Amino acid sequence: MVWQGSFSLDETTRRNGYNPEAVLGKLQKGMIFVDVGCGDGYFSLLAAKKVGALGRVYAIDIDALGIEKLQSRAKLESLINITAKAGRAEDTVFCSACADVVFFSMSLHDFEDPRKVLANAREMVKPSGWLVNLDWKKQDTPKGPPVNIRFSEKTVQNMLTQAGFCTVSVTEAGSYHYLVVGKPTL
Ligand SMILES: C[S@@+](CC[C@H](N)C(=O)[O-])C[C@H]1O[C@@H](n2cnc3c(N)ncnc32)[C@H](O)[C@@H]1O
Repeated sequence: MVWQGSFSLDETTRRNGYNPEAVLGKLQKGMIFVDVGCGDGYFSLLAAKKVGALGRVYAIDIDALGIEKLQSRAKLESLINITAKAGRAEDTVFCSACADVVFFSMSLHDFEDPRKVLANAREMVKPSGWLVNLDWKKQDTPKGPPVNIRFSEKTVQNMLTQAGFCTVSVTEAGSYHYLVVGKPTL
């Protein structure tokens, strides 16, 4: 899939689709959260508030404009616990065995090499951590990317297995999205 620029949805559209706080339900104060393909950082900003000053958010997106928007918003909200970088997720490992949650929101199907990105996620996640993947169901929906480029829950589970994760849960997140949660296989 060729990159087509970062993406932003307004708050109402997001909240009509799913409950963002529930999507970030694993997060607690002091945790490390990595947002891969963060766009303009909707979830990074929420996560930064949830993990607090003793936690940290690492965010990566190929779109420099999205990263600039995230940085401006973080500054405006005095959130100093976000490290945001413009670059390819395929080339990015923020740190080894450091992340409590490695997170993907509607981005996995957009990467040129999702398997490499998942290998990087496996390197970043702590043995006790989680991979959380929110994405569009592979069916017609009023919004969202073309159905043919979406990954089904089954495809994501297979990709996770190949990358060294086991699937802990597959749940619905509203009518149009699913949430796949994985843990590293030890
Ligand atoms: C559909 S958007 C989702 C953005 C964000 N996660 C959200 O929920 O608002 C997918 C994002 O993946 C980014 N992306 C695509 N290919 C990428 C790559 N190779 N490395 C990093 N980011 C990439 C795009 O720039 C875009 O911001």
